[in-house]
Parts: sequence; C-alpha cells; structure tokens
Amino acid sequence: MQSADFPDFPHPQADLVMKVFALISAIVAAAPAAYAQHKGVPFGFANTVTGGGSATPSYPTTNAQWILTEMTEGSTTTNCCSDNRTTKCPGGSSAGQLWIQSTCDSGTWQSCTYWNAPRTPLKVASNKSIVGVGTKGVIRGKGLRLNGGVSNVIIQNIHITELNPQFVWGGDAITLDGSDNVWIDNNKFSLIGRQMIVSGWGTGGRVTISDNEFDGKTSWSAGCNGKHYWTMLLIGLKDYYTIAGNWIHDVSGRAPHIGTDYTSSQIVVHAVNNYFQNVDGHAFDVDTNTWMLIEGNYFENVYFIQTVADASNAASPLGYIPEWNRLSGSGAVNSIVSQNALSKLGAYKSNIMWSHWAVANVPANVKAIAGVGK
Ligand SMILES: *[C@@H]1O[C@H](CO)[C@@H](O)[C@H](O)[C@H]1NC(C)=O
Ligand SMILES: *[C@@H]1O[C@H](CO)[C@@H](O)[C@H](O)[C@H]1NC(C)=O
Repeated sequence: MQSADFPDFPHPQADLVMKVFALISAIVAAAPAAYAQHKGVPFGFANTVTGGGSATPSYPTTNAQWILTEMTEGSTTTNCCSDNRTTKCPGGSSAGQLWIQSTCDSGTWQSCTYWNAPRTPLKVASNKSIVGVGTKGVIRGKGLRLNGGVSNVIIQNIHITELNPQFVWGGDAITLDGSDNVWIDNNKFSLIGRQMIVSGWGTGGRVTISDNEFDGKTSWSAGCNGKHYWTMLLIGLKDYYTIAGNWIHDVSGRAPHIGTDYTSSQIVVHAVNNYFQNVDGHAFDVDTNTWMLIEGNYFENVYFIQTVADASNAASPLGYIPEWNRLSGSGAVNSIVSQNALSKLGAYKSNIMWSHWAVANVPANVKAIAGVGK
C-alpha cells in the first residue's frame, strides 16, 4: 500500500480477468479444488478436519491470478458517515475510518468511494482446502465466507489484505455463519475494513484458529491510534474455538470479542499460547454465554484484558495444570476462576490437551511460525 487514500490496485486485462474468475469458480464451486495440499495436522476443536484431503491441487499459473478483480466489480461513490470517533483524531497517528452506512446521526456526511468486491466475499464450499504456495497466496480485496452448513474446510497460508481499510463495513476477511469443522491456520490478515474473523449469528461450529498473524497496523484506525479495532468478533450460536499460537499485534480492540447476550448462544473457547503485542485496547473482551480457558498467553504492551482465568485449582476438571498467562508492560488482570467454566472445558479434554509451550517461549515461538510462508 503506497497510496494514502485509496488502494492502488492493478488493472488486469479482460482475458486475465476471465481467467481469475474461472479460477475462483474452481476454488469455490467444483471439486477437487485446492491450491495445494495443506501441511501439518489439525488439532483442537477442529481436529477432525480434512478439507480437500489429497485431491489434486489446481494451481494458478501466474502471480497476477491471485489478484482479484476490483475492476470488474467496480466501485461505489456515495456519502459515508464521518463522526468524531473516526475522522477527527486529535493529534493521532491515524486518519480514522469512515462508516459505510445509511444513517449518520452523530456525524456528517462525506463523499467517499469504496471497492465493491471486498463487501461480497467468496463463498467457500464444503470439503475444501484453500492453501497458498510459499508466500504467493495473497488475496487482495476479497474475503471468504463459510455459510449455509459448510463444513470441513481448511484455509491455510493465505494473506487476505486490502479490504477497503478506510471504511468500517468495508469488508470482513473470514466470515463463519453456518459452518462447522474449520481450520484457519498460518494465514495473515492486514488492512481489513471490518473484522479479520467474524462469526454469527448462525453457528460457527468447531473451529481452530492457529498460527495466524493478525497485523493491525493501519493508517485508518477507528481508535485514532494507527491500530485496527475490529480484530475478531465471535458471537455465534453454538461454537467451539481453539485459538492457539496466533500473533495478534498492533490492534486496538475485539482481540477477540467473544460472546453475546443472545440467549441461545453457547461458546466454548480454549485460548492458548497466543502472543498479544502492542494492543491499545481489549485483548480478551468477553461477553456472556461464554466458557473459556485462557492459558499460556503472552501479553506485551496490552492495555486491558477484561477476563482472564487463573490456573489454580484447575487440574482436577481439566486433567492437567494449565500454563500461566504472562504480562509484560500490560494492564492489570482481573483474575477470574470459574469451576463451571473449568468443568465445561474439562468435558472436551481431547480437544484441549496437547503439549503447550511454556509461556516464556511464546513470543519467540509464535514469531517464528505464525503467518504466511512459514
Ligand atoms: C462525539 O459526539 C458525541 C455527540 O455527537 C459526544 O457525545 C461525544 O462526547 C463526542 N466524542 C468526542 C471524543 O468528541
Ligand atoms: C463432504 O464430504 C462428506 C464426507 O465424504 C460427504 O458426506 C458430503 O456430501 C460432502 N459435501 C459436499 C458438499 O461435497
């Protein structure tokens, strides 16, 4: 990204555009359709995922084919809402984000132009692996959506970026809304308009989010601090998340927000060995109807951690002593231990028991393996 105010997308020629669409169609509709076979063994709540399995991969033939086609879906010029949270950042390092929405009660309308493509994600079908090759798996300007009962999907080694980062509601990177058995592994998210991962109001199902890099550095921050606010919003109906080994840095909120007061919602989470770095806001922002075990995470320069479970007395329901969380230059922790939460997690021992890292090793280990091309 060089342009200060609008992404400088390439202008593919018509025949290339057609090839790209053919490729996308192949990924999302037909079988077999994987970019490459996935690496590693799934663990945690999505430990039975196989994705496209050993299906013959289909590869793009040029780097340009990875660059999706803003030119064909076009852009929209309209009025966006500018309010004092998003565009008037006093002395801040960020220009703020404009809101793509139909009301603007507390702000003023401002002319805006955004790409259409990031607002309509690609639909991913069941039994698929979408796997990038080396560091070439970059999807610019388009997210992925798993809905309508889609299951058994692996998304690995893909960098999703440039989804209208200037705009709230500009686009989500990965949406889970009626899905199950999903492994989101070794990806990178950057310059996203809205959420990097979002679930709800439907079921997200069993999901493992591992070894991803959530890079929140942005010139358009809703928090006026150069850091992305909308990191992960997990508010599904009946969801089981393993969130492990991720590098979550330079974000300012919802990192993640988990839970909702929607009464039938039930969310079980094991968050382990994540490295939170430079978070100007909430790391764990936990709402109701949530049962969580948070262990062995490393918080470096994190302002607030709303809810953190303690290790003591956890051995009996869990079958092992969980790893401590460690703080470095971070806000105070309100230590919360709930036997109810521990019992709930203890019922899923096979999904939470594997050899975790000692928390002191988390920053180095995570930086070595999280993100793409690792
Ligand atoms: C933004 O405007 C609202 C009313 O429109 C006001 O209540 C709020 O204090 C303002 N916030 C800042 C940071 O100026
Ligand atoms: C996915 O694979 C399962 C198991 O082989 C099969 O039952 C199901 O029909 C497949 N779904 C689709 C949409 O291909």
